[in-house]
Amino acid sequence: MLQSPHRRGVSVKPHLNDEMRFLQSWFQSPLKTGAVSPSGRALAKMMASYLDPRLEGPVIELGPGTGPVTRALLARGFAPERLVLIEYNREFCGLLRKRYPGVTVIHGDAYALYDTLHGRLDVPAVGTISSLPLFTKSPQERDRMVNEAFDLSRPGAPFVQFTYAVVSPVPLKPGEIHGERSPRVWWNLPPARVWAYRRPTA
Ligand SMILES: C[S@@+](CC[C@H](N)C(=O)[O-])C[C@H]1O[C@@H](n2cnc3c(N)ncnc32)[C@H](O)[C@@H]1O
Repeated sequence: MLQSPHRRGVSVKPHLNDEMRFLQSWFQSPLKTGAVSPSGRALAKMMASYLDPRLEGPVIELGPGTGPVTRALLARGFAPERLVLIEYNREFCGLLRKRYPGVTVIHGDAYALYDTLHGRLDVPAVGTISSLPLFTKSPQERDRMVNEAFDLSRPGAPFVQFTYAVVSPVPLKPGEIHGERSPRVWWNLPPARVWAYRRPTA
């Protein structure tokens, strides 16, 4: 049964300082940070809803930032030990380790997914959930990263990505990468939507 954030001991208070941390990170490195404020709770919840905690295996989270999506995954019922986070920003990594004990936080590059996760996964992942600013990379780099995530996951596992854009941030390829688009989440600032990509199974 899925547990509420209260029952799992996860804080449901908004982390006000995160806004400042995020803004500072954006000033230092706008292309890497990719947004001026953390994702809202409704958006994070919608992203997490694409992953099923009843399936066996870890979840790969890319670009967790200050952790709103991590929090939504814990609230959905994933044990902390199942979450493997890859984050570029060293300060955010420290914050995530303190905030979410038991979660694996790797300071590394999500675009070198095989190398970054080398030896870290015992079984295929149930899916990947990403807040990376994808449009700062070429379509070929995005395609390669998503395919590496599929290779590290169970057959049919989703690669979940939010976007503020109208177009798909991952190049869709008939027969190779399919995408399912959510309705726009108007409660997020700015409004965003979620894409769930899958590699078709046989
Ligand atoms: C748009 S922010 C979203 C973070 C999160 N959803 C939040 O609201 O706090 C993107 C995050 O991806 C991280 N990032 C950017 N490029 C990365 C890369 N190549 N590998 C790992 N993390 C990366 C940034 O440091 C930033 O924390």
